[in-house]
Amino acid sequence: MVQQQRPVQSSLSPSPLSYSLISNRPISLLSRNGLLLVLALLLLGVFLPWTGSPFFPFPNRSSSSFPSNWRDYSLDQAAKFTAKDGTVIVCAVSYPFMPFLNNWLISVSRQKHQDKVLVIAEDYATLYKVNKKWPGHAVLIPPALDSQTAQYFGSPGFFNFTSRRPQHLLQILELGYNVMYNDVDMVWLQDPFQQLEGSHDAYFTDDRTNIKPLNHSHNLPHPDRNGVTYICSCMIFLRPTNGAKLLMKTWIEELKSGSKAYEGNDQPAFNWSLNKTAHQVDLYLLSQAAFPTGGLYFKNETWVNETKGKHVIIHNNYIVGFKNKMKRFRDFGLWLVDDHALESPLGKLEPQHLLQILELGYNVMYNDVDMVWLQDPFPYLESSHDVYFTDDKTAETSNICSCTIFLRPTNGSKLLMKKWIEKLQAQPWSKSKKGNDQPAFNWALEQTAHQVDVYLLSQAAFPTGGLYFRNMTWVKETKGKHVIIHSNYIVGFKNKMKRFRDFGLWLVDDHAPKSPLGKFTKIQKTSSSKYRKTRKTGT
Ligand SMILES: *[C@@H]1O[C@H](CO)[C@@H](O)[C@H](O)[C@H]1NC(C)=O
Ligand SMILES: *[C@@H]1O[C@H](CO)[C@@H](O)[C@H](O)[C@H]1NC(C)=O
Ligand SMILES: *[C@@H]1O[C@H](CO)[C@@H](O)[C@H](O)[C@H]1NC(C)=O
Ligand SMILES: *[C@@H]1O[C@H](CO)[C@@H](O)[C@H](O)[C@H]1NC(C)=O
Ligand SMILES: *[C@@H]1O[C@H](CO)[C@@H](O)[C@H](O)[C@H]1NC(C)=O
Ligand SMILES: *[C@@H]1O[C@H](CO)[C@@H](O)[C@H](O)[C@H]1NC(C)=O
Ligand SMILES: *[C@@H]1O[C@H](CO)[C@@H](O)[C@H](O)[C@H]1NC(C)=O
Ligand SMILES: *[C@@H]1O[C@H](CO)[C@@H](O)[C@H](O)[C@H]1NC(C)=O
Repeated sequence: MVQQQRPVQSSLSPSPLSYSLISNRPISLLSRNGLLLVLALLLLGVFLPWTGSPFFPFPNRSSSSFPSNWRDYSLDQAAKFTAKDGTVIVCAVSYPFMPFLNNWLISVSRQKHQDKVLVIAEDYATLYKVNKKWPGHAVLIPPALDSQTAQYFGSPGFFNFTSRRPQHLLQILELGYNVMYNDVDMVWLQDPFQQLEGSHDAYFTDDRTNIKPLNHSHNLPHPDRNGVTYICSCMIFLRPTNGAKLLMKTWIEELKSGSKAYEGNDQPAFNWSLNKTAHQVDLYLLSQAAFPTGGLYFKNETWVNETKGKHVIIHNNYIVGFKNKMKRFRDFGLWLVDDHALESPLGKLEPQHLLQILELGYNVMYNDVDMVWLQDPFPYLESSHDVYFTDDKTAETSNICSCTIFLRPTNGSKLLMKKWIEKLQAQPWSKSKKGNDQPAFNWALEQTAHQVDVYLLSQAAFPTGGLYFRNMTWVKETKGKHVIIHSNYIVGFKNKMKRFRDFGLWLVDDHAPKSPLGKFTKIQKTSSSKYRKTRKTGT
């Protein structure tokens, strides 16, 4: 096992850092701007015994029908791929809103409608991020929102953006699908499809905070005394009828003709198009108790108590600012990202994917990306055990780490993955462990102890960060034996980066050309406070 320690240069793993908004394990942190950023978990090195060329297949679904670059994925293709039972659920998201997308998706998954979701990505970062985690579920309809434009809410460029929404919806209707549109600052508490009574053309919600009787009319509300109606364009359901298409066309027309007045908000135009088409389109106003505006739900506890059990989708509007929205969701127990990350289609990673790769007959090595290779780990995979893993032990704790795992495509390792998946789905830890998959992995190892041939990798070769970065005596004693270093036992993205730097393990600065990704472009600092929700946040 003992090998000479070579200089830090050999197997530099791709993508040393990557942002992800999925808190799969407790390395999540708040950045300077309060944006939830997490080190991505990345599958590294899928080793093909026959060709030796590493690549990552997406074995599920008809991946062959996807274009080689997601840029070339069209709305038609994407709608066809995601439509289930003739229905597509769409949202439109820019990168800073990824945490909200994730939160919304978890709530949609809990109602078992996630397979129908199509994310209309407003920028390439979102397109690639979503499709990497969840192939085929994001599409970008050019032009992309550039970061300049994104910051100037209300600018003509921004307006160009929101004004495209009815066009996308119309296009999906023309393909013959039902389409539900949601803003992503929403949370589903129940299945909204149960509320789509009858066979009307278009279903929408009222953003007014006035409390209506439970049996309120489902007709288009009349303008109030001041001539104002507050229809929300945040949640819309459309059937592929002539009426719904006419409504979309009218909305597009309204946006074009009134673009100045609307100042980047597509909602007044939607409101006017409802008024104009009211006699030709079969409209249905959804129940206030089921689809309350944030101005009511978050502000009147008496009403919330009175209508308990009736709430279906909660909209986090009537509040300005990214951080405030997030805080409010947290305060009301609607921030699911903390405790239910593993229920998100964007969050599920390891065991399912690893099992799929095993089923294809490949060996697979899994690594967290907050690791650095100092030596080739493959010589350490002695003899032919099913599963190789590492210990996260320091003086105080003893736990198995799910951070480095090597699996051979054997019945034993498949069984272990199946147990792991089973345990994750049962999620007994979700309350206390915040979406950490590690206890489940430990449990699965225990359960399969007599059936799976497991091999604990050497501590000196695969030390936990709790040891390597903290006990210099030990590090000296074991010099030359270290193979993969894990920057765990520390919280915070910046702290991890700084520690790697301090220990000469931040290779990005000096060895960037050795990365298959080339020089890592400067990490974009997204200032959440610059982004405002695109509409009616404070009315
Ligand atoms: C808005 O979109 C139109 C058509 O795509 C384009 O010609 C125009 O330059 C855009 N305006 C801005 C300010 O981005
Ligand atoms: C709602 O119920 C009240 C009392 O039961 C009744 O007077 C009213 O007409 C109903 N309104 C509608 C729109 O059905
Ligand atoms: C919404 O449309 C109504 C007509 O139905 C109009 O009176 C009202 O001013 C509009 N509201 C906004 C905010 O544009
Ligand atoms: C449309 O708007 C006008 C002007 O605000 C109003 O008088 C009329 O009642 C509205 N029509 C419908 C169907 O709401
Ligand atoms: C609403 O219900 C909760 C739980 O039953 C109770 O603690 C709270 O006091 C109620 N609030 C109001 C304003 O009635
Ligand atoms: C809050 O809701 C209750 C019950 O529906 C209602 O009686 C009260 O007027 C509402 N308060 C405000 C400030 O709207
Ligand atoms: C693995 O499982 C398959 C299917 O259950 C079985 O046919 C095969 O004999 C098993 N292989 C070994 C080596 O146990
Ligand atoms: C550090 O490592 C040395 C040598 O292995 C060991 O004797 C000592 O107990 C360790 N210190 C701590 C705080 O764990």
